[in-house]
Amino acid sequence: MSNSTSPASAAAPAASNPSESSTGPARLLPGGPVAERIFADVTARVEALRSRGVTPSLATILVGDDDASAGYIRIKQRQAAELGFDSPHRHLPADSTQADLHAAIDEFNADRDVHALLIQYPTPAHLDYDAALMRVDPDKDVDGMHPLNLGRLAAGIPGPLPCTPAGIEALLAHYEIQVSGREVVILGRGATLGRPLAMLLAQKRPTANAAVTVVHTGVPDWARYTLRADILIAAAGVPGIIQPEHVKPGAVVIGGGVRYEGRRLLPDVAESCAEVAGAITPRVGGVGPTTVAMLFRNAIEAAERRFA
Ligand SMILES: NC(=O)c1ccc[n+]([C@@H]2O[C@H](COP(=O)([O-])OP(=O)(O)OC[C@H]3O[C@@H](n4cnc5c(N)ncnc54)[C@H](OP(=O)(O)O)[C@@H]3O)[C@@H](O)[C@H]2O)c1
Repeated sequence: MSNSTSPASAAAPAASNPSESSTGPARLLPGGPVAERIFADVTARVEALRSRGVTPSLATILVGDDDASAGYIRIKQRQAAELGFDSPHRHLPADSTQADLHAAIDEFNADRDVHALLIQYPTPAHLDYDAALMRVDPDKDVDGMHPLNLGRLAAGIPGPLPCTPAGIEALLAHYEIQVSGREVVILGRGATLGRPLAMLLAQKRPTANAAVTVVHTGVPDWARYTLRADILIAAAGVPGIIQPEHVKPGAVVIGGGVRYEGRRLLPDVAESCAEVAGAITPRVGGVGPTTVAMLFRNAIEAAERRFA
């Protein structure tokens, strides 16, 4: 089965074969312009729904008083308002029980005016985030991480896509980097990034269609694989794990994995890789902006599905 949901459909079509064969310093691939294009597409689709009397709605749930999480929710609400979404919000106290959280989810699931739902991650340690995610109506799952949606992705059935993998496909398409027929190596098989990204980029679609290899700690000589990658995607969450000696000269390098030390962002890809790569995401503002944009893409698609 092929997946007719194209994460890159809001971005430019992939070019036939632009090669990144020249060696450093690499062309930068910022995520901002990709996100802007996706937001423009979402805005037009919001307006189309509103002209039919429907206001798309992205609900959010925050548990506890973590400053960073509250900040992320505020950013998403501001963005939702700018795009024309309603954004009803439930803020549950830090000592909420799993049953309290499930009750809030059930309420939004049952509300026909709410089309998409986000539970801010992480929830306090005493709560089971995965169980909460399982409780979300899969058709309202704005992160595309509900197991049913990961199953849809595996089976090639359209549905909400995991935001970061979909953002990476859109980023490659936006910069007209040919993926089809090329060798993509992903370092990391995590549930959020590496694993769904491998499924996505192997699908039969012009902006995917790649020969995908996934390496991890079970492959100690992983550099053997990364060195032959036309497109190397870091998804490990190990700062500096990708060094210039792991990159084929002229390759496209996408930094997905990051770790935070306080507010300091530590990317998987060493900046010096730009001397070897043909194209590379910047240290800050690479994949991140596309992830946020894809969240709103999932939200508008959820609203459109309701009224299809
Ligand atoms: N930019 C964004 O917007 C965004 C969004 C989501 C996630 N992320 C980032 O993406 C990264 C991956 O997240 P995730 O949840 O998918 O992954 P995860 O569950 O943390 O898994 C990390 C993966 O990397 C592999 N790995 C770790 N150290 C390694 C090493 N030394 N050598 C080889 N492989 C190694 C692990 O191998 P094993 O399986 O063998 O343990 C595992 O497959 C994280 O840094 C996360 O912060 C970024």
